[in-house]
Amino acid sequence: MPQKVRGVVAMAKDAPVSIETIIIPDPGPGEAVVDVKTCGVCHTDLHYVQGGIGDEYPYLLGHEATGVVSAIGEGVTHVAVGDTVILNWRAVCGECRACKKGQLEYCFATHNAAQKMTLEDGTELSPALGIGAFADKTLVHAKQCTTVDGVDGVEEQAAVGLLGCGVMAGIGAAMNTGAVKRGESVAVIGCGGVGVASIAGAKLAGATTIIAVDIDDKKLAKATELGATHTVNSKEQDPVEAIRAATGGFGADVVIEAVGRPETYEQAFYARDLAGRVVLVGVPTPDMQLTLPLLEMFGRGGALKSSWYGDCLPERDFPMLVEQYRLGRLPLDEFVTETVALDQVDEAFETMKSGDVLRSVVVL
Ligand code: APR
Ligand code: ZN
Ligand code: ZN
Repeated sequence: MPQKVRGVVAMAKDAPVSIETIIIPDPGPGEAVVDVKTCGVCHTDLHYVQGGIGDEYPYLLGHEATGVVSAIGEGVTHVAVGDTVILNWRAVCGECRACKKGQLEYCFATHNAAQKMTLEDGTELSPALGIGAFADKTLVHAKQCTTVDGVDGVEEQAAVGLLGCGVMAGIGAAMNTGAVKRGESVAVIGCGGVGVASIAGAKLAGATTIIAVDIDDKKLAKATELGATHTVNSKEQDPVEAIRAATGGFGADVVIEAVGRPETYEQAFYARDLAGRVVLVGVPTPDMQLTLPLLEMFGRGGALKSSWYGDCLPERDFPMLVEQYRLGRLPLDEFVTETVALDQVDEAFETMKSGDVLRSVVVL
């Protein structure tokens, strides 16, 4: 039987979000229904409201979620009813050109549920990032669910659920894209939620020098809590010089740009060891350009890379990171600034705009 539940919907561009009754169909082949437990509030949800992602309103918002599988469709074997899962937006297809080349993290045909959730009048909803988890229940492709063991209680769920998007983007920029190795030096430019997650990822990977750069001392204080060994306020100090000074004059083995601006990417370029890796995590806008001297790229290797969703593979990365969290090596609790109710998403967007929170998490 299709079920009626509450969901937070953006009905039109720039309108306040509203709680609507939504209809969850029974899961079809390959699909699962998940009873949502927690869902983080991410900038991307706000971008849907503001029209920055598309105009396929109404959008069912929310995508950084944990829940418990309550129903599965035909042919679903990799999750079972009762499993605690983290939802993801990278359920790889295994068949596209990227997947066939073994580059699963660049899959361009990721799976989402085939059926649509709807409003009561039958209007089809567009779920944010193919998830839509600011709701009591959501319908997803079963491969969007990664089972994680031993996650008890709402606090742990709220924390590990952040691996579903923004925190994974940061950790993965360090561990997957930057491939930080034990003993390496890492500089992170921009210490918002994504940047400090990169710092936590760099520490987990064994980096011994971790340099945090920001223009806001509050962000630098948080960066220190999460593992930065050096901080640089780039309003007061040249970040390239400061990073070189902290790395014996060489530059950092890995420099992560988590702002999304040409000038900070340029700083990252000049602050790297010539054989090092520069990772662009901050999302640029279409107009942004950068000119770099080719000779600086010549002869010593090195790489310029971009990182999207931390180049994560959920089935590989989520259980491992949850285990590290449970062992006390990955302080995911630090990222949960507040928990809120389903009807407080608009307020949470305002708090997010103020820049004073890492994450507000909706608890259901
Ligand atoms: N130099 C250093 N830091 C800067 C600069 C600058 N010129 N300008 C801004 N910052 C800092 C801000 O002070 C803030 O701490 O960058 C940080 C950006 O953080 P948030 O706005 O919280 O953004 P976040 O969620 O961390 O995402 C960062 O990564 O995934 C992408 O789309 C995301 O482009 C965005 C970026
Ligand atoms: Zn694919
Ligand atoms: Zn997100």
